Amino acid sequence: MSKTQENLMAAFAGESQANRKYLAYAKQAEKEGLPQVAKLFRATAEAETLHALAHLRKAGKIGTTLENLKDALSGETFEFTKMYPEMVADAEAEGNNALKKHFGDVGEAEACHAGLYQKALDANGNTAAVDYYICSVCGFIHEGPATDKCPICKAAVTAFYKVD
Ligand SMILES: [Fe+2]
Ligand SMILES: [Fe+2]
Repeated sequence: MSKTQENLMAAFAGESQANRKYLAYAKQAEKEGLPQVAKLFRATAEAETLHALAHLRKAGKIGTTLENLKDALSGETFEFTKMYPEMVADAEAEGNNALKKHFGDVGEAEACHAGLYQKALDANGNTAAVDYYICSVCGFIHEGPATDKCPICKAAVTAFYKVD
């Protein structure tokens, strides 16, 4: 990989993180009754998204949708088969039960994401129309309105919201 290609991917990672961080900071500013600062964080977050997307595009990392589904499937699979299980083990070794559960739940949610990507791949991208509902606690995705508590983190059915 050329240095410039490496730089594009490093910049993509950094800008992606800045985007999520600023959105979290915006929520905090709202909580503190500072709506103008919240707005500034949201505006900057949006600008960092533009940067991140430009870096990814210029790095040639956006493929066809079938290629992207395969890439997304492999990323989620890595997360639920290796990354999170290792983090669960590390948290356990350090006696941190709260984070052990957190990583475990998130890993299970990633397995669910992988399953949905696999389903879309199996259908060659022509999946049946359905609304996705996310558990706001762990990120589990349910096809159609949730009718029961989250199967992963046991959050109440009211924790689910629809994604447009
Ligand atoms: Fe995921
Ligand atoms: Fe959940």
